[in-house]
Amino acid sequence: MESRPIGIFDSGVGGLTVVRTLIDRLPDENFIYFGDTAHVPYGTKTREQLFGYARDITDFLLSHQVKSIVIACGTHSSVTLPEMETACPVPMVGVVGPGARAAVKTTRNGRIGVIATQASVNSGSYAKAIESINPGYSVYSAACSQFVPLVESGLLNSPATRQAVREYITPLLDEGIDTLVMGCTHYPFLAPVIEEFVGTDVILVDPAEETVTELADILTSQHLQNSGPRQYCNFYVSGKPENFLQLGRTLIGNVIEMVNKHSLDGDQPRVGFKGEKYAQHIG
Ligand code: DGL
Repeated sequence: MESRPIGIFDSGVGGLTVVRTLIDRLPDENFIYFGDTAHVPYGTKTREQLFGYARDITDFLLSHQVKSIVIACGTHSSVTLPEMETACPVPMVGVVGPGARAAVKTTRNGRIGVIATQASVNSGSYAKAIESINPGYSVYSAACSQFVPLVESGLLNSPATRQAVREYITPLLDEGIDTLVMGCTHYPFLAPVIEEFVGTDVILVDPAEETVTELADILTSQHLQNSGPRQYCNFYVSGKPENFLQLGRTLIGNVIEMVNKHSLDGDQPRVGFKGEKYAQHIG
């Protein structure tokens, strides 16, 4: 029996779109979630900053004896995961590969739109992942910088939200896409507004389902499943716990019982930095 928890992280509430699927599909597993709300949004951060956060959060999750880490963040899955996973002592799963696979299964005309953060779009990660499965497919990407601040403010269906959806997604519709990947984990919270705007001819892809399938396959093949039932699902943030508790409950309900504060090592004096040894291998 492997009762060690599964670690999950994101810049804020976005990763909760993956948590809600994890909770439904893996009822026997324990979870520990870290929302780096002191540093949200990630999409505008430099590569160096992102590596610093990824190391600190990975160290934090490993200190809680996680058996696997889900990078429930399109930005980190695009920028830091390829290097982090080679040095991490437990399996890491991101959302880009799963999102690309789900998009390829969904499209009929081979014209796929991707909406994501600026850092994810700059990395070209989704386009590369989709084209590696089918080089004949065309990928059209749009960075949607206003979406994360709107979601973090709880503005899921405001006039500003609808205006931003129109502005970012119109150029993708003009390219004739039939599939739209929500390449940032915050965006599925905007799915009702996006769906209403794109209409029934365009299918929205949320990478969460496929991400959980990949994790479940790893747990099975490495004999890491817990025999259950789940005992806890713990939440930590680097910013204000009360804000996360309130918004998080509005978004995914009372599964969030309480939220704890944990400041990242990078924000604290370096004396006794326990991750130093591990961190030096990465980035
Ligand atoms: N939800 C994350 C992502 O999937 C982070 C977005 C952000 O903080 O900019 O990219």
